[in-house]
Amino acid sequence: MSSPAKKIEELREKLRHHEYLYYVLDAPEISDTEYDAMMRELKALEDAHPELVTEDSPTRRVGGKPREGFVKIAHSSPMLSLDSALGEAELREFDRRVRGLLRGESLAYVAELKLDGLSLAVHYRDGRLAQALTRGDGVIGEEVTENARTIRSIPMRLKSKREDWEVRGEVVLTRRAFERLNAERDAAGLPRFANPRNAAAGSIRVLDPAITASRQLEYFTYSLLANGAPVCATQWEALETLNEAGFKVNLKRKLCKDFETLLAFCQEWEEKRDSLPYEIDGVVVKVDSVEQQNRLGWTAKAPRWAIAYKFAARQEQTVVENIEVQVGRTGALTPVAFLRPVKVGGVTVSRATLHNEDEIGRLGVRIGDTVLIERSGDVIPKVVRVVKEGDQRKAFSMPDKCPVCGGAVVRVEGEAASRCVNTNCPARLKASVLHVTARGVMDIDGMGDALVEQLVDHGLVRNVADIYRLNPEQLMELERMGRKSAEKLLANIEASRRAPLPRILNGLSIPFVGERTAQFLAEEFGDLDKIAAASEEELQRAEEVGPKVAQSIRRFFDDARNRDLVERLRKEGFNFKYAAKRKASGPLHGLTFVLTGTLPTLARDDAKERIESAGGKVVSSVSRKTDYVVAGSDPGSKLDKANTLGVKVIDEARLLDMIG
Ligand code: IVH
Repeated sequence: MSSPAKKIEELREKLRHHEYLYYVLDAPEISDTEYDAMMRELKALEDAHPELVTEDSPTRRVGGKPREGFVKIAHSSPMLSLDSALGEAELREFDRRVRGLLRGESLAYVAELKLDGLSLAVHYRDGRLAQALTRGDGVIGEEVTENARTIRSIPMRLKSKREDWEVRGEVVLTRRAFERLNAERDAAGLPRFANPRNAAAGSIRVLDPAITASRQLEYFTYSLLANGAPVCATQWEALETLNEAGFKVNLKRKLCKDFETLLAFCQEWEEKRDSLPYEIDGVVVKVDSVEQQNRLGWTAKAPRWAIAYKFAARQEQTVVENIEVQVGRTGALTPVAFLRPVKVGGVTVSRATLHNEDEIGRLGVRIGDTVLIERSGDVIPKVVRVVKEGDQRKAFSMPDKCPVCGGAVVRVEGEAASRCVNTNCPARLKASVLHVTARGVMDIDGMGDALVEQLVDHGLVRNVADIYRLNPEQLMELERMGRKSAEKLLANIEASRRAPLPRILNGLSIPFVGERTAQFLAEEFGDLDKIAAASEEELQRAEEVGPKVAQSIRRFFDDARNRDLVERLRKEGFNFKYAAKRKASGPLHGLTFVLTGTLPTLARDDAKERIESAGGKVVSSVSRKTDYVVAGSDPGSKLDKANTLGVKVIDEARLLDMIG
């Protein structure tokens, strides 16, 4: 029998390995349940043998105690900021200056994405995480070690090296995690975070590490130091070394031998910035050679060997001309600011969401005010703050009757949203029909805004299930609808009847139940009727379903009108059963696939379904366990990774061949 000490060390080693696969490489090899079981086993052993507990044990990531305040500590060398270059001309100017100072020597630049988060320096002693400091004023930082420990992509010990290293990098929150955090805050009646950067900063600079732990922060490194000086001879080598040591290093980076390559990289990412899961506000350009960096030196506030190529601003000022409410599919009333149209980063913006009453209160915005608005990623433009109060400003108050149907508006205790309670409200109906047709739900192509509007206004659709009762004659009476398009639409509607349970659930528009939660519910219960009958307590067995979501689901199915909708869908022949288990046979049995890029004919969801029904498995990231990467046009970093790991890459035609 092995000693507890040995067993503990074994478990720690395994957990570290799986944390690395999951949080750094994005390529897990075991399920969350297996991971949790291992963690519990380790915890139990450590509880039984407190003398064997060490600071760098994976169990120490959570559980640090809240503190009284932050301790201020000087950085090993100042965390400087960067000068910025706006546009091509200023970038050329930087290049000219650098080449001039180096008297025409040959040189290379490293281009890295400039992640929009919060910079953090992490110190290792004897290969173990010892201290983490925020930037502070650049010279003196604030110590946030316990909080940093909760970020899984920050290794608690280095993979092999035992040096005293300091790494610097950026703590970020993905857009998705940001949206979820704000949705949770809405539900809890807390003020929203204005952007992912503020949310990341607000999650690190908290006294209670448990809060940091709950925020799903990520850490990307870009600098490797020892005693305040670079460890490697070049920046490129530093990034590779960090990567090998177990840190997350952004894959989108480029070693540029000439200016044109550098410029192309900057322009490429300015264009593609919205396709990234996190926000970036530019590209950082660094002279690769540290020896050249040293000769170029520093000004008082920034290095001469680096520059931030800044993307065009996506914030502008404009006037709020009116505030109106829109009714969404769950009945939530969303106040929307109607703005004097203004160009923001190349797109004309005339509306911005104000989310809810509390947010209006927090911003203190009134009709007539001049506001700063921001477009970020794929989220709708939003109001950042009031810049100047209007002369004749007018306050907005939430109506007590639905502006569309006149039904009662209520605000449920503890929720930020006010809702129209009438499930037959035409605005709710339109929004929920539109939601049902969306990709990832019932995926009904050809059923856009204008058509849904007409269907509801003409009384052809009074209930989501009515979509499945439409006939060509009815459709052809509508504007801009010929026989051909009517038939095509009906064929698409027909095809959507085969949608699996998670999509049906998502399509029901239950407040707080989106794609992810729907998937978890389907996996846990495997049957819509079981979900509809489950108590709030039972519902919480599903992953990520807490009291609030459970209550919302229960409330939904307790409403006779919603139960009626379910019965209608049953009559339409929908399959309410869901077998989460993959098929144990089929031509792709035992094979794992990753999809990347746009396929010529199949939508991503279709490709996934086809692979799964042929017995294969689709995962989101490439690892050594991946059998095939299916690549379409404009593939992402997954293709690079496949090539690095030697994973086979195929196209759609080959995939369809394999399915047969
Ligand atoms: S290098 C002297 N690289 O941008 C070198 N900074 O104004 C200074 N940032 O506060 C930093 N991504 O928080 C560097 N790949 C990257 C970066 C990056 C984001 C942030 C960093 C710094 C600010 C520079």
